[in-house]
Amino acid sequence: MPNSLFAFRGSPLRQMEHIVTGSTPQDLDPFHCPPIRLRPASRDDLPALYEMQLDPESNAMAVTNPRVGEAFTTHWDKVFQDSSAVPMVILLSERVVGLVACFYAGQSHSIGYWVQRDFWGQGIATEALRMLLQNVSVRPLYAQAATSNKASLRVLQKCGFQIDVVRLEPACDRYPECEVAHLVLV
Ligand SMILES: CC(C)(COP(=O)(O)OP(=O)(O)OC[C@H]1O[C@@H](n2cnc3c(N)ncnc32)[C@H](O)[C@@H]1OP(=O)(O)O)[C@@H](O)C(=O)NCCC(=O)NCCS
Repeated sequence: MPNSLFAFRGSPLRQMEHIVTGSTPQDLDPFHCPPIRLRPASRDDLPALYEMQLDPESNAMAVTNPRVGEAFTTHWDKVFQDSSAVPMVILLSERVVGLVACFYAGQSHSIGYWVQRDFWGQGIATEALRMLLQNVSVRPLYAQAATSNKASLRVLQKCGFQIDVVRLEPACDRYPECEVAHLVLV
């Protein structure tokens, strides 16, 4: 068990067991992100999350293969059993419009996110990641994005992540072969 897990299981995780609200309306740029909230993902969210991660355009952008059928169920069974995982759905007017998550992968804590395509370009991913980072204090935090995924790299850059290394990664079940930027937030 990694040493840092205890820090991760402390107050940051406890806070994330509750709904997290974003900026107050007066803090919001009226032309930017609409008011979103985060709440822990539950099994009731899985049908919406399943549809969202099947979207071909989203997968082309993320350079991912969607998880189909049992692969999706198996993945989420593992997530719900993993006490180090912090999967939060992004709510806009009570509707699930995305997912932002922190999880322990390999040797390190990493983050990921996904926004439903109809809601792209409104600052939602940036705001949701900012809210997650305010409530998860463990550092360093890692992220990765295909170098072709300029939107995701921009989200990460706006939240303070910096590129550590760029590598050509081989294909696997989840990803086709692609050039991947590995980023870190210290
Ligand atoms: C990547 C993704 C999460 C972005 O979500 P979003 O809510 O639209 O992101 P935001 O609106 O917060 O910010 C996007 C930023 O990228 C910029 N951007 C968007 N498309 C871009 C492009 N093709 N090139 C460069 N920048 C781009 C936007 O202008 C914005 O930056 P700005 O605020 O400086 O103008 C969303 O497109 C998505 O879910 N894609 C599919 C899944 C995915 O790629 N997940 C991440 C895997 S690493």
